[in-house]
Amino acid sequence: IKTEVLDAVAGATDSKALDDIRVNALGKKGSITSMMKNMKDLSPEERKETGQKLNMVKGEVAQAIEARKTELADAELNARLMAEKIDVTLSTRPEQAGTIHPVSQTIDEAIAIFGEMGFTVAEGPNIEDDWRNFGALNIGPEHPARQDHDTFYLPREQDGHRMVLRTHTSPVQIRSMQEKGAPIRIVCPGRTYRCDYDATHTPMFHQIEGLVIDEKTHFGHLKGTLIDFCRAYFGVDELPVRFRPSYFPFTEPSAEVDIGCTREGGEFKIGAGDDWLEILGCGMVHPKVLENCGIDSTKYQGFAFGMGIERIAMLKYGIPDLRTFYESDLRWLRHYGFKA
Ligand code: PHE
Repeated sequence: IKTEVLDAVAGATDSKALDDIRVNALGKKGSITSMMKNMKDLSPEERKETGQKLNMVKGEVAQAIEARKTELADAELNARLMAEKIDVTLSTRPEQAGTIHPVSQTIDEAIAIFGEMGFTVAEGPNIEDDWRNFGALNIGPEHPARQDHDTFYLPREQDGHRMVLRTHTSPVQIRSMQEKGAPIRIVCPGRTYRCDYDATHTPMFHQIEGLVIDEKTHFGHLKGTLIDFCRAYFGVDELPVRFRPSYFPFTEPSAEVDIGCTREGGEFKIGAGDDWLEILGCGMVHPKVLENCGIDSTKYQGFAFGMGIERIAMLKYGIPDLRTFYESDLRWLRHYGFKA
């Protein structure tokens, strides 16, 4: 009976079968247990001898069962580990992973640079009223500058006025002045819209606007701020920055800013050279604009600037065609985009 049980133990392939064997041998009604019970019918000498033998068998069987039990438990655990294995080194569908879009990256970089100079970020709606997009900025209904902005108009309201998709971020200047009054030191990044489409124009693009209003802010501050920005953004310490007189209805005097470059064929390189690239418009805020926003122009003055995000991104990262910014081509994004 001992070999029978031990063979069975060795042959048990799972812990359930092993437990059945244990019950059948050592349980209350098990074979070995009942043999021990039957000893009461034996003579005292026989009982002693058989008892010793049975105890040894019982011990051996119990030990064998314990050993097999550990073996089986190990095997079962290993099998489970194999079955539930997760390969953490596998990458997650890499072909679907995107990057940070150059527009977002450029806005972040610009905000970081202006942030160091103490500017905070302000935002405004994409749909503006005619007054904030034009009128308050000194662009009246008959002003020729309106023609420069190929405006998307929304249908007229019942009272005759019509909303526009903002053609620049300058209406955010107006909102800030109206809401917070002076002093002000903000940059306003965001989407802008003009009805135009070719290699250098898309109907939606981005600008970042700056506005500083204080009691003594002057053109020197404007120059210093923008020179510092250009050098920091393009990462060229001695980058030449040129202020060229220009005209905007909402600034007086006004200027456009060029940065130095060298040009060979269609290629250009930013830095000291014999050529210039225009990158932004700026000027001292027109007193009429301050007054339109309820700011006392005899006490306060300041400057404003506005630049195209895509334009400065194209220049810095060598992106040749503006339209590719909005084609949602993952290959383009992986080439020009940034790791999160
Ligand atoms: N709003 C102007 C544009 O879109 C840029 C600008 C902003 C110029 C602020 C001067 C001051 O062209």
